[in-house]
Amino acid sequence: MKRILVTGGCGFIGTNFIKFLFNNVSGEHTVVNVDKLTYAANPENLMDIEQNLPTRYFFEKADISDIEKIEKIIDKYEIDTIVNFAAESHVDRSIIGPQDFIQTNIIGTFCLLELVRKFQKMGKEIRFHQVSTDEVYGSLQGSEFFSETAPYNPSSPYSASKASADLLVKSYVNTYKIPATISLCSNNYGPYQFPEKLIPLMILNMLEGKELPVYGDGLHIRDWLFVEDHCSAIWMILQEGKIGESYNIGGNNQWENLKLIQFLATILAEKTGRNIEDFTKLIRFVKDRPGHDRRYAINSDKIRNELRWKESFDFTTGLRLTVDWYLNNLDWVEKVRSGDYLKWIEINYRNR
Ligand code: NAD
Ligand code: TYD
Repeated sequence: MKRILVTGGCGFIGTNFIKFLFNNVSGEHTVVNVDKLTYAANPENLMDIEQNLPTRYFFEKADISDIEKIEKIIDKYEIDTIVNFAAESHVDRSIIGPQDFIQTNIIGTFCLLELVRKFQKMGKEIRFHQVSTDEVYGSLQGSEFFSETAPYNPSSPYSASKASADLLVKSYVNTYKIPATISLCSNNYGPYQFPEKLIPLMILNMLEGKELPVYGDGLHIRDWLFVEDHCSAIWMILQEGKIGESYNIGGNNQWENLKLIQFLATILAEKTGRNIEDFTKLIRFVKDRPGHDRRYAINSDKIRNELRWKESFDFTTGLRLTVDWYLNNLDWVEKVRSGDYLKWIEINYRNR
């Protein structure tokens, strides 16, 4: 049975991954969630699991760069697997202020790798999985797809910090023979995504009658994957992935931003009984993001062929589930937006 340290488990994908581990995977694994609780975190996401599985789920408020504290946590819970989700994750924020991205995404990953190396020297092997992004490959102009052998060519401070972390992981595999894998996933969407990212932002602005800011000409392309499919792929890599390998994870589901927003408007109209135009009339073209990558598209044949991974959610189903989730969880939205949850954290985690 695995004893898994999940970093960044109070964020969007980490939360979904921990829920996936307890709801979809059989076995008696233990999960320790280490999260610094930044603006993007909400520990309430996992309150049900914390209450129902007190001997199998543990939360520790810590920064992955705090090497002494993380070492104690690894020791205390006899961790044998680390899945590193912890990151600053929003491109726009990285453009405004890259420092936290360098600190967490690069230095934080370095600290985890150093600990894996230290435990290895002491005779304890820890499996390490780095959760990365297709953005490390940079922008595609033509109609090609990125495979795992494509060179890294990141454009934003966010993608450069993720690329740096990946290169460190690769170097630790080559030099110190640590047992690590990397996954590079396309854009995720689904429940618990902080409403600064495209899909939740657009859903909520449509509901609230606010403008829908489309960067540049709106013809930028992203490949979208439902978050639970990303989680199942990571779990499969942990089970069957080859040490030292990278695996692309993508949905074969490319959309221009503008078309995606229009599609979301049709789903919102269906769910609320309103007209599509009530939502599409809110579209506003705004100044483009600096260094905005034109297109991401990923070739995920390797994980599909070698590990027999396959997504379970088509885009319409996934988007309907996502819209339903936001409609039913407006109190969650209120909390994460208002920062009230920071007070909640202060009260509930003051003594940890
Ligand atoms: P998120 O911003 O929603 O969550 C990140 C979590 O990490 C938060 O809970 C935050 O508190 C925590 N964190 C940040 N700094 C930390 C630190 N120093 N120590 C401990 N915890 C810290 O991000 P997300 O969208 O869930 O992304 C998770 C991972 O997946 C990231 O590594 C990201 O690069 C990668 N990824 C995301 C996407 C996507 O579409 N969202 C796609 C591919 C890969
Ligand atoms: P985002 O969700 O920030 O993810 P990423 O930049 O990591 O791919 O943005 C997805 C796409 O949507 C990207 O091309 C930028 C664009 N976008 C907008 O047009 N308007 C917005 O308000 C946001 C947040 C993003």
